[in-house]
Amino acid sequence: MAGKEDTLAAIHGVAIQPTCQNDDSAKFSEQAAAGAASMLIMEKGEEQMFDLDGKIAVITGGASGIGLATAQRFHAAGAQVVIADIADGSAKAEDLDGLFVHTDVADESQVAALLDRAAQHYGRIDILVNNAGIAIGAGTISEQVYEDYRLQFDVNLMGAVFGIKHVVDHMPAGGAIVNTSSMAGVLGFPGFASYGASKWSMIGITKTAALELAPRGIRVNAVCPTGVATPMMDDDVAPEDEVAMIEMFQPINRLATADEVAAAIQFLVAGDCAMVTGHALHLDGGLFAGTSVQSLELALEAFRTRQR
Ligand SMILES: NC(=O)c1ccc[n+]([C@@H]2O[C@H](COP(=O)([O-])OP(=O)(O)OC[C@H]3O[C@@H](n4cnc5c(N)ncnc54)[C@H](O)[C@@H]3O)[C@@H](O)[C@H]2O)c1
Repeated sequence: MAGKEDTLAAIHGVAIQPTCQNDDSAKFSEQAAAGAASMLIMEKGEEQMFDLDGKIAVITGGASGIGLATAQRFHAAGAQVVIADIADGSAKAEDLDGLFVHTDVADESQVAALLDRAAQHYGRIDILVNNAGIAIGAGTISEQVYEDYRLQFDVNLMGAVFGIKHVVDHMPAGGAIVNTSSMAGVLGFPGFASYGASKWSMIGITKTAALELAPRGIRVNAVCPTGVATPMMDDDVAPEDEVAMIEMFQPINRLATADEVAAAIQFLVAGDCAMVTGHALHLDGGLFAGTSVQSLELALEAFRTRQR
């Protein structure tokens, strides 16, 4: 029967070395790590934190909203950006001295071709942001139909799966992948079952990919934003209702901006964040902390009105 190292090697196609064989080698590793850490601190004194200088980044859904804000931030932090989108993002890529590749992320061959092209152009890919997404067909579970699930799973989930699958051979150790999930991927939202299910499954894939790719030195994380002021929110079925609900129940009672989400993505991909993998970062405006003051006040007001 294969041992643990053999099994891991079979999964990753690489030989896995035991990290520590005896006391002497453990001591040596500690000394080496301490030396490396002090060098890093010295270098960091001259560097910008969370800088992406010289990194090659591919961002799907990069022509609009969160993806575009991410491309702009990455460019400002020194990265070369590749914008991939089903919509035309060529002018936006040009503004950032980057590359635009027309891509439907629901089509595996197009995602593979995108990543081949980016790697051919720049030599490798250091960062992949699987961000392209759609939100359609709001309705209860009884109202939603198979097609709602299929379309959103094809784009939101499979787009990210294809990205992870095909980027690995182009991504050296130190690489980072971020998947854009949602608050709807960590909480239930009545009326958004199919969207929510696609976003919950992205977190499952994020965690499995983080485990499978850790031996290659590649980190995989997800961001889970609350409502964000982007064209997706404009096109949403009931944007005014959603904004009103957020104002009522979310402690920081406003929509996030696309740049606030992009900042979290930059944090997760930067080398400064090297110990974080398999994480789903909540950009929740305090939702997970508990019931907002304004919700409590509204409930109390409703109770008092009923008592009168
Ligand atoms: N806006 C929000 O409130 C919100 C909240 C949480 C999570 N998200 C997620 O953030 C991500 C970005 O959304 P956004 O708010 O910036 O919306 P957006 O509509 O501004 O941007 C989405 C981009 O994805 C592209 N896209 C859609 N289908 C595609 C496909 N098949 N192939 C390639 N590109 C495709 C669109 O053309 C668009 O440019 C999505 O995954 C979305 O689910 C959004």
